[in-house]
Amino acid sequence: VSVSWRVESTRRIAYEVAIVGDLLDPATPDLAAAWLDGPPGRRLVVADRAVWELYGERLRAYVRAHGAACEVIALDPGEGAKRIDQVLAVVAACDSAGVLRRQTPILVFGGGVALDVAGLAASLYRRGVPWVRVPTTLVAMIDAGVGVKTGVNHLGRKSLIGSYHPPAAVLVDPGFMATLDRVEISAGLAEAIKIALVRDAGLFELIAGSVAAIAGPGRSPVDRELVSRSIAAMLDELSDNLWEERLERLADFGHTFSPGIEMAALPRLSHGAAVALDIALSCALASGRGLLADRDGERIRRVLRGAGLPVCDEVISVELLVAALEAAARHRDGLQRVPLLTGIGSAVFVNDVSEGELETALALLRKEAEG
Ligand SMILES: NC(=O)c1ccc[n+]([C@@H]2O[C@H](COP(=O)([O-])OP(=O)(O)OC[C@H]3O[C@@H](n4cnc5c(N)ncnc54)[C@H](O)[C@@H]3O)[C@@H](O)[C@H]2O)c1
Ligand SMILES: [Zn+2]
Repeated sequence: VSVSWRVESTRRIAYEVAIVGDLLDPATPDLAAAWLDGPPGRRLVVADRAVWELYGERLRAYVRAHGAACEVIALDPGEGAKRIDQVLAVVAACDSAGVLRRQTPILVFGGGVALDVAGLAASLYRRGVPWVRVPTTLVAMIDAGVGVKTGVNHLGRKSLIGSYHPPAAVLVDPGFMATLDRVEISAGLAEAIKIALVRDAGLFELIAGSVAAIAGPGRSPVDRELVSRSIAAMLDELSDNLWEERLERLADFGHTFSPGIEMAALPRLSHGAAVALDIALSCALASGRGLLADRDGERIRRVLRGAGLPVCDEVISVELLVAALEAAARHRDGLQRVPLLTGIGSAVFVNDVSEGELETALALLRKEAEG
């Protein structure tokens, strides 16, 4: 006779994503409330080195003004730094700073790379300590910073190792974008365009109407509404599937071929540029199937170019696309589950993209690029 026990449990998740202006002004209470409450003593900041150079003094002054002190570990910037050894360095910093299990959240300050690295460390140290996120790139404000995923690259593959570790809070101050260069703004626009195309046609119109000014030479600031609506659309998509039990994810739009493209072109193309290339290709695939009107596909590629993003690149070959699709299918538990647009604002998932279709789609992009 066998004996068995069945274990079942659910864990409630709650965190707030808030847009807060003048976050580092000592008179703004939000950061102190989310991060410095609790027992006195030092707090740990994990920061992208470039971000720390720009804003470290102001953060220190903020912490002092609130009667606290902090210790800092600066991470190497860039996609190449999304490595497990950086995660272990953060773990060591947690240990020497005396981070407690519940009461002394780590503050992570930087773009998607810093958030992914530090978030993985926060999920591993003592099997999980709380963390507060302050995203400083547009990509991180509207995408990497709002969900629960962490990760690092490994074995030459994007985000192969990672975890789901919800933050205690996310504080988004669009003001940090003032120091971002144009390439990084464009990268963020790629993620905004991604979520708009699968969920929010009105947001796509808003972006289409403002990209030229945002990405142009005399750059105007990214609209707060654009940030806010992108976050809203992203959270609508993510929040009832945080653990990705459903593998048909609209947020994967633009993320089927992009991991392979990004890793092959590292560090030349930003994450957002790789996403833009994937979007352009996915639109060509959708048009090839008659799912998406040709003129919509052409318009989307025009908007991407207007945002300073590439829609065709020499690194892309049919072999690379086939390999990326296979890797995506493995990641998606054996099925391709490729999101393809049926119009601006809506998508379906397909499981039978063929090599021939990829060839045709790529040929279309190359032809457009020449013409
Ligand atoms: N976990 C997720 O759900 C998720 C979602 C989307 C993207 N990501 C990951 O995020 C990463 C991309 O994030 P990213 O685009 O923020 O890249 P990033 O973190 O590398 O930042 C881009 C560059 O901007 C600099 N920087 C950051 N903030 C700045 C500021 N305010 N002023 C001046 N310079 C600043 C950084 O030093 C870096 O050189 C990719 O690795 C991607 O896989 C993760
Ligand atoms: Zn992305």
